[in-house]
Amino acid sequence: MAPIVLEDVTKVYPDGTTAVRGIDLTVNSGEFMVLVGPSGCGKSTLLRMIAGLEETTSGRILIGDADVTSAAPRDRDVAMVFQNYALYPHMSVRDNLGFSLKVGRTPKAEMRKRVDDVATMLGLNEYLDRKPGQLSGGQRQRVAMGRAIVREPTAYLMDEPLSNLDAKLRVSMRAELTNLHKRLGVTTVYVTHDQVEAMTLGQRVAVIEDGTLQQVAHPQELYRRPANVFVATFIGSPSMNVAQAAVADGMFTFGQFALPITDTQQAALKGRESAIVGLRPEAFNVGGAEHTVEVEVAAVENLGTESHIFFGVDAPPIGVATHHLAEDAPSIVDAGSVFIARLGPDELVAVGQTLTLSVDTRKVYLFDAATGETLLS
Ligand SMILES: Nc1ncnc2c1ncn2[C@@H]1O[C@H](COP(=O)(O)OP(=O)(O)O)[C@@H](O)[C@H]1O
Ligand SMILES: [Mg+2]
Repeated sequence: MAPIVLEDVTKVYPDGTTAVRGIDLTVNSGEFMVLVGPSGCGKSTLLRMIAGLEETTSGRILIGDADVTSAAPRDRDVAMVFQNYALYPHMSVRDNLGFSLKVGRTPKAEMRKRVDDVATMLGLNEYLDRKPGQLSGGQRQRVAMGRAIVREPTAYLMDEPLSNLDAKLRVSMRAELTNLHKRLGVTTVYVTHDQVEAMTLGQRVAVIEDGTLQQVAHPQELYRRPANVFVATFIGSPSMNVAQAAVADGMFTFGQFALPITDTQQAALKGRESAIVGLRPEAFNVGGAEHTVEVEVAAVENLGTESHIFFGVDAPPIGVATHHLAEDAPSIVDAGSVFIARLGPDELVAVGQTLTLSVDTRKVYLFDAATGETLLS
C-alpha cells in the first residue's frame, strides 16, 4: 500500500495528440480514487502512464517514495484490470488466477493457497476447474479481478472493468468492489466514463475533461460545490440546466425566466452584468405562488419513481464547456436550449401542455460567464 503522486504529468502522442495536460493529483495510500470524464478525455492514457504502459512526455510519477516515471511496468508493482478481461481461454480459472504467480516463480504450495484464498473471497471456488468460456460475464470479470488481487500489489489500476456487464450485474459488482476495497485497503485508481459509477465507488473523484483535471473532491462535494460549469453539468443525472442570464435590477433574466437575486448571490456576483445560472432538475416544483415560470412541455419521460419534463428556454447559448446528455438527443425544441425538470411520479403532465413551475431560488448555482468558474464559495 502506497500513495501515487502525479506531478504536472503530460502526454503527447507521437502523432501530436495531447491526451493529458499538466495533471497534478495525489492518490492517498489505501484510497479508492475514481478518474471520470467523457470518452476521449485522457483517462486511459493517464492510467496507462501510471502502469508504465505509456511513456510520460513530461512531469513525474511517484509510487510510494520511488520516482517511477521511467521505470518498466514490471518494476512498478501495480496490477491492472481492463474492460475486456483478457483471460487465457485455454486455461482453467485456477491457472488464470495463478498465472502471474507462476511467472513470478512463487512456490507451488503458496500459489495454491493464495489462489484458493482469492477464489473464496470472490465466490469462485466452484468454478476453479472451468475454462473462461464456461463462465458468465460477471464470473469472468471476477476472475480478471482475482488475477490482479492474487499478486498482492502496491496498487490496483482498473480501466472501465464493469462496462461490458449488463446494468443489473454492474450494480452488484459495484457493491462487491467496495467491499473488496474495504477488506484489502489497497490504493486503487479506477477509470470510468459513468458518473453514477464514479459517485458510488469513489472515496474521491477526479473529473477530467480534454486532458485537464477539473476538480478532485468527495462525491457529495462535487455535487454540491462544483468548481465549474463542466463539473456541474457532468455530475448528476439528469444534468444541471444552465443558461446565460442578464443581471439587472436585482433579477436574473434569461428566456422566460425572471428570478430575484438573493443577498448572498448579489455579493457573489461582484457587480457582474451577466452570469451563467445553473438549476438542477430538482430545483423545480409544479405550481406555487413565488418565482414561477410558464413552460411549454416538449417531452415527458416517466420513470415510475419520478418524471422528467423537457422544455425549451430561449436564452443565448453559453460559451464555455458543458456536458449535457440532452445535447446528444435530437433537438426537441425550436430554439434555445432544453431544460429538464424532475417532478414526482404523481404529476400528470402531457406534451404540449403549458405548465407553471416554481423555482427554489436558494438552489441557483452561479458561474462566471467567460470562464465558467463557480462564483459561489
Ligand atoms: N496511441 C495513440 N496515438 C494517438 N492518439 C491517441 C492514442 N491513444 C489515444 N489517443 C488519443 O488521446 C485522447 C485520449 O484517449 P484516451 O486516453 O483513450 O481517452 P479515454 O480513456 O478518456 O476515453 C483521445 O483523443 C485519443 O484519440
Ligand atoms: Mg478509455
